[in-house]
Amino acid sequence: MGAENLAGKPLIDIALPLDGAPGEQRSLVVANTDSRDEQIQRAFPDARVVKTLNTVHVDVMVDPARVPGQHNIFVSGNDPEAKRTVSTLLTEFGWQSDAILDLGDIRTARGVEMYAPLLFTLAGVLDTWDFNIAIVQRQRGLKFS
Ligand SMILES: NC(=O)c1ccc[n+]([C@@H]2O[C@H](COP(=O)([O-])OP(=O)(O)OC[C@H]3O[C@@H](n4cnc5c(N)ncnc54)[C@H](OP(=O)(O)O)[C@@H]3O)[C@@H](O)[C@H]2O)c1
Repeated sequence: MGAENLAGKPLIDIALPLDGAPGEQRSLVVANTDSRDEQIQRAFPDARVVKTLNTVHVDVMVDPARVPGQHNIFVSGNDPEAKRTVSTLLTEFGWQSDAILDLGDIRTARGVEMYAPLLFTLAGVLDTWDFNIAIVQRQRGLKFS
């Protein structure tokens, strides 16, 4: 598309950065100290990259009610306004506002990308793609910081 066409625009990345083809044993091609989204943000510094949706199957992305109960979807990105725009889009897909967790800046895409191997393992074990992560927490639980 060219950097000039992406400048200033929210750019949604849903990629699982895996090598190989579906059905093959696949590995992450970037992990730990970098992510696909940081690579995209570096390549297109004026785009407002937001990572989301990669933790669920495509059918669940646009129809979260396929999975019963409250379950979560994540957004990562450096630009708060872009994340708000993308969150609005997610609510139009059917995601509840309080199910959308803002993980922080674009570096937090590393974690959701590294979930990919577990996503595939779970799909095989459960023999379905209609599942998702649900965050449950204790009220007034042990503080992180
Ligand atoms: N499917 C899911 O449930 C799911 C879940 C989470 C995340 N994702 C992510 O969503 C993305 C799309 O997934 P998908 O299942 O739709 O994959 P897909 O069916 O394999 O489609 C990939 C598309 O990317 C195009 N493509 C591949 N390499 C390209 C290149 N170098 N330049 C331009 N286009 C290229 C392919 O074009 P050709 O057909 O011409 O090769 C194809 O249209 C992937 O990044 C995947 O990791 C998918």
